This record gives sequence, C-alpha cells and structure tokens, in this order.
Amino acid sequence: MRNTLLLFGLLFSISALAATPQELLQQYGAQAKQESAAFAGFSADRGASFFRTERADSGGRQVSCSTCHTADPRNPGKTRANKAIEPMAPIANPQRFTDAAKVEKWFGRNCKDVLERACTAQEKGDFIQYLVNVK
Ligand code: HEC
Repeated sequence: MRNTLLLFGLLFSISALAATPQELLQQYGAQAKQESAAFAGFSADRGASFFRTERADSGGRQVSCSTCHTADPRNPGKTRANKAIEPMAPIANPQRFTDAAKVEKWFGRNCKDVLERACTAQEKGDFIQYLVNVK
C-alpha cells in the first residue's frame, strides 16, 4: 500500500511536468483568448510564415526562426556559434513540445532574439500548430 502511494506520487509529479503538444496548444489557446477577444483558433499557415519571415533587427541583421532552425523544420539546425540544434518538427524529433518549461524558456529567448519583443500566445500557438502538422 505504501509503495503504491509512493509510486502514485511519483507518477503524478512526472505527469505534472510533462506535456503533449496538444496540451500546450490548449494552454496557449486559453491565454490567447485572454489576450484578445477576437481570437479564433490557431493557424498552421500563419505559423509557417511566422517561422520563415525575415525581419531586420535593430542591428540591421536579417533574422527569422528559420535562421537557426532552417527553412525545413524536419532538418537539424545550427546556432550562430555553429552548434547543432535537433529538428523542430515532432515528426523528426518527438521530444519537441513535451516540456512546458523548456518551451517557454526558448520562446522567451528566441522571440527576443528575432522580434526584439515577447511572442504573443497567438504566435506561439500558430508556431506549434504549424510544426505538429509537418508530415
Ligand atoms: C539564434 C538561433 C535561434 C533562432 C534565431 C531561433 N531559435 Fe529557437 N532554439 C534555438 C536553440 C539553441 C534551441 C534549444 C536547443 C534545442 O532545443 O535543440 C531552440 C529551441 C526552441 C524551442 C524549444 C522547443 C522544444 O519543445 O524543445 C522553441 C519553442 C523555439 N526554439 C522557438 C523559436 C522561435 C519561435 C523562433 C523565431 C521567433 C526561434 N526559435 C528562433 C535557437 C534559435
């Protein structure tokens, strides 16, 4: 009985950290509704163009998410320091979008890097929707 309780507690704490891409989409959907009453769902097409669109940053560099993650998210990417990045699409890398804290950490860093602001919940959801749809 005691062991069962311990095991249950352990499983519960693991599942509190882990997530599926669908759960993350639900959370971002709830957030997007709060950010805008006009929120009408996520769009993989919008996410695809968000992923690829280059913007000039304040230093005059052309940057996009695909600068590091490459235009095809099934391929591995590279940081500016040439370190390998695992593919972004879950079809090629099932670890993606399964850890809410990791996802938030990197949205924070990379949106600041590319957009020089935080991403909205709509942008985050569109981005995930695009990547989970990649076959
Ligand atoms: C300067 C290079 C660089 C750019 C530009 C970049 N990323 Fe990343 N990204 C990384 C690195 C490095 C990681 C962490 C390493 C890894 O997870 O393989 C990462 C990981 C992520 C993750 C974590 C996903 C997960 O579940 O593991 C998300 C989300 C993400 N990036 C979103 C974005 C978005 C959105 C943009 C464009 C606005 C973007 N990135 C642009 C380098 C970059």
